[in-house]
Amino acid sequence: MSLKILDSFYEGKAKTLFHTSDPTLIVQYFKDDATAFNRQKFGQIVGKGVVNLAITKALYKLLESKGIPTHFVEALDERRMVSRKVEIVPLEVVVRNRVAGTFAKRYAVAEGTILPAPIVEFFLKKDELGDPLITAEAAIAIGLATPHETAELDRLARKVNEILKAFFLTVGVELIDFKLEFGKLPDGTLLLADEISPDCCRFWEVGTGKKLDKDRFRQDLGGIEDAYQDMLKRVTGG
Ligand SMILES: Nc1ncnc2c1ncn2[C@@H]1O[C@H](COP(=O)(O)OP(=O)(O)O)[C@@H](O)[C@H]1O
Ligand SMILES: [Mg+2]
Repeated sequence: MSLKILDSFYEGKAKTLFHTSDPTLIVQYFKDDATAFNRQKFGQIVGKGVVNLAITKALYKLLESKGIPTHFVEALDERRMVSRKVEIVPLEVVVRNRVAGTFAKRYAVAEGTILPAPIVEFFLKKDELGDPLITAEAAIAIGLATPHETAELDRLARKVNEILKAFFLTVGVELIDFKLEFGKLPDGTLLLADEISPDCCRFWEVGTGKKLDKDRFRQDLGGIEDAYQDMLKRVTGG
């Protein structure tokens, strides 16, 4: 593909986005920068960008093979990924299998509590407001999505959960929870967008409960780079 990378148009917390010579495609550059708690904590996780791109690529290939439409096109190199340009739905879709993170805090429920069935939550994607929890009804009322779209987000997120939960168990990891972003093509088609990586998932090693995700950074547990490399090896077998 003779795709030319043009100017950058968005500098995010973890990735930089570039226009390309094809107006329907963008390039995402995966950085090592890490932030937590709405940027109150920030630093670098050496090698993170490489790990996150490789894991995202492997998982998107798996999800595509199971019928989930994603924005993934191809990886140009270790840190640059071509994806279909979408209009991001300003809702972060979180799926939870066990209690952790903000859910544990919000309801004062012990971390690790197994939920009787997966829970899907929506958060308004707005850093200035601290990404607050939002109901589907409110999201529809303020024009962020249609009733059909919120139902689709819920359905797709649950399907992604079933596929990923099963996959991670085969590599000795329990998928505790994760965050997804979706986007729309100009014709309104919903695609899974952004990334799926240890930055936006909680992974606990089966048997030991060892955390293999960004919680090691949030909670200063140490061994963060090793945990990311461990996840890379498990997911890609490399
Ligand atoms: N295919 C896509 N088209 C357009 N924007 C995208 C696509 N995939 C992800 N994005 C957006 O690009 C940004 C990725 O950079 P990131 O560093 O994660 O940003 P943020 O700081 O907003 O989380 C996010 O805002 C995400 O919503
Ligand atoms: Mg992001």
